[in-house]
Amino acid sequence: MSLTSTKASAFDTRVPAYLHRLARTTDTVLPPASTDPERLHQALRYACEGGKHLRALMVYAAGETLGVAAEKLDAAACAVELIHAYSLVHDDLPGMDNDDLRRGRPTVHKAYDEATAILVGDALQTSAFEALAKTNALNAEQKVQMITALAHAAGSLGMVGGQAVDMASENLTLPLAQLESLHARKTGALIRVTCQLATIAANASEVIRHALDRYGRCIGLAFQIQDDVLDQIADTATLGKTAGKDLAQYKSTFPSLLGLEQAQQRAHALFDTARDAAHSISSHAEPLLWLADHIQQRDH
Ligand code: IPE
Ligand code: IPE
Ligand code: MG
Ligand code: MG
Ligand code: MG
Repeated sequence: MSLTSTKASAFDTRVPAYLHRLARTTDTVLPPASTDPERLHQALRYACEGGKHLRALMVYAAGETLGVAAEKLDAAACAVELIHAYSLVHDDLPGMDNDDLRRGRPTVHKAYDEATAILVGDALQTSAFEALAKTNALNAEQKVQMITALAHAAGSLGMVGGQAVDMASENLTLPLAQLESLHARKTGALIRVTCQLATIAANASEVIRHALDRYGRCIGLAFQIQDDVLDQIADTATLGKTAGKDLAQYKSTFPSLLGLEQAQQRAHALFDTARDAAHSISSHAEPLLWLADHIQQRDH
């Protein structure tokens, strides 16, 4: 299936409203910047600013496709972005990727200091689970299911485990299967769980859960392959983070293993499979199709 075969959707007209909901929810979940300790609370908010919010949009797109009211998705959208923001703050630390630039601005440990950046990550993580625990829009069983799914995706069997393998794989050439597993964990898990969170809010059937999970898995892996490709071909100003870091740090990436062109082809094939999965979920899967196209076409 080619990109042009997917129809234009009304989802893009609703994106600003969804982003507004996300900002409002995040603003209520995080303590005001003037709260003691002020420096920490300022840094928490700093870490959440900017960004494309693609994971939150995936929660809303999947939820909309399944007919879920937006208020049942707000806490999940916010929680996944808080975990993502924490993962970036820690990823940028000197002990990990040692980056000075994120979302076009100094990283948290540069704008503040290392101890604050570590604590910001810690606090963002706990705030994510608090957001889910406290929402009034979901029943207790849904909340427990969401907390369990997000904890699993974020933890040592998901994102954190992937980050550990990423660090241990510097200077190595991983075989393709291991590189896929690394990417599926460090980035894929958190993207994949956005679809799981939406199916929990929808009380979706096993068949729908399975199809949406396939969509989420493909987008998740494609997303990190594309991140590796962009690191190599885009410039720092466009990326809002330092370009060319992966090569400089001898990271295990798809372009380094397969070459640029094959890596791009692999990502395109995964986006196509994701679109197939979206079609199998519903004839009204425009939000998911729009998002697949939007993510595929991103330049940063
Ligand atoms: C960057 O994610 C880090 C990866 C997991 C590859 P995004 O590109 O979604 O970052 P923001 O949130 O838009 O800054
Ligand atoms: C980071 O992958 C993934 C997580 C933060 C979990 P990268 O290290 O490639 O992300 P960027 O390129 O710094 O955004
Ligand atoms: Mg990294
Ligand atoms: Mg990094
Ligand atoms: Mg990267």
